[in-house]
Amino acid sequence: MRTTISQVREFKKKGEKFAMLTAYDYATARLVDSTGVPLILVGDSLGMVILGYESTIPVTIEVMLHHTRAVSRGVQKAMVIGDLPFLSYHLNAEQALASAGRFLQEAGAQAIKLEGGVNVADKVSRIVECGIPVMGHIGLTPQSVNQLGGFKAQGKTAMDAHRLLEDAQALAAAGAFAVVLEAIPAELAKIITQQIDIPTIGIGAGPSCDGQVQVLSDILGMSETPPRHSKAYAHFNELTAQAVKDYAAEVAAGTFPTAKESLALDPEVITALEKQLGSAALD
Ligand code: KIV
Repeated sequence: MRTTISQVREFKKKGEKFAMLTAYDYATARLVDSTGVPLILVGDSLGMVILGYESTIPVTIEVMLHHTRAVSRGVQKAMVIGDLPFLSYHLNAEQALASAGRFLQEAGAQAIKLEGGVNVADKVSRIVECGIPVMGHIGLTPQSVNQLGGFKAQGKTAMDAHRLLEDAQALAAAGAFAVVLEAIPAELAKIITQQIDIPTIGIGAGPSCDGQVQVLSDILGMSETPPRHSKAYAHFNELTAQAVKDYAAEVAAGTFPTAKESLALDPEVITALEKQLGSAALD
C-alpha cells in the first residue's frame, strides 16, 4: 500500500524518524521505492543536479510534470510529491490550485510541495480544501535565492528565527501535512518541531526534525560540490568512471562482446547462406 498523509502524521505521533529522498526519473525512482523509503520528492532541485542550471528558477511546470510522470511510473509504495516550480503558485490561490491539480491529474503524484510560509498560507488552504495534500518548505527556499542573496543558512537572528516559527505555524494552520526545514540552526529546528503538530522534515536542520530529506545525487556521491549538510553513502562517480573505462578498454582490446553477449544465427540459416555464398564467405 502507498504511504498516506495519515501515516506521515503517525510517524510524528509515535516518534518514528523517517526518510524522504528525491528522485527524478523512472529507474532511480524504482530503486528508491524498492528500499521502502516512504516519501519520494520530485524536487525542482532537478534543475541543478540533472539539468545543470545554476538555480531552480529556470525550471518550468512542464519540465516538473515530465519528470514527475517518469517517477510515478517507477513507484508503487511511496508517496510521490511533486514540487511546484518558481512562479507556478505565486500569482494567486487559483493559479496555485490549478498548478497543484496538474501534478495529481497529469503526473500521478499524491501530494505537492511549495516554498514559503505566511506568504503562501492562503494558497495552501485553497489547495488543501480541494483535497490535495500540501508539504510546506521554509528556511533556505532556493526559488528565492536572488532575494536571499545566495544559498545561505536562514534563521540565525532572533527576528528571523521568530519569523520562521510563524511561517511553520501558518503552514500547519493552513492544513499542510508536513514542512521541510532547510538550512536553519538545529536548535531552531528543534523548537519548530516541538511547537507544531505536523512533522518537520529537515535538510541541514539538525537531528531533532521528525524526518530528514536528502537529494539522491548527494547521498550517492554524484555531486561535484556537495552541500555541507549532505553525506555520501556511495561513490557513484568513481564506480561509474571505472565501469566506463573497463568497457571502453575491452572494446579496444576486442574482448567485448564475447559469444555470451552475441546473438547466434540459426544453423539452417547458416547452411542456406553457405549454399548461396559458398562456405568460405562465412569463415
Ligand atoms: O527541490 C528539492 O529537491 C527540495 C529538497 C532539497 C527539499 O526542495
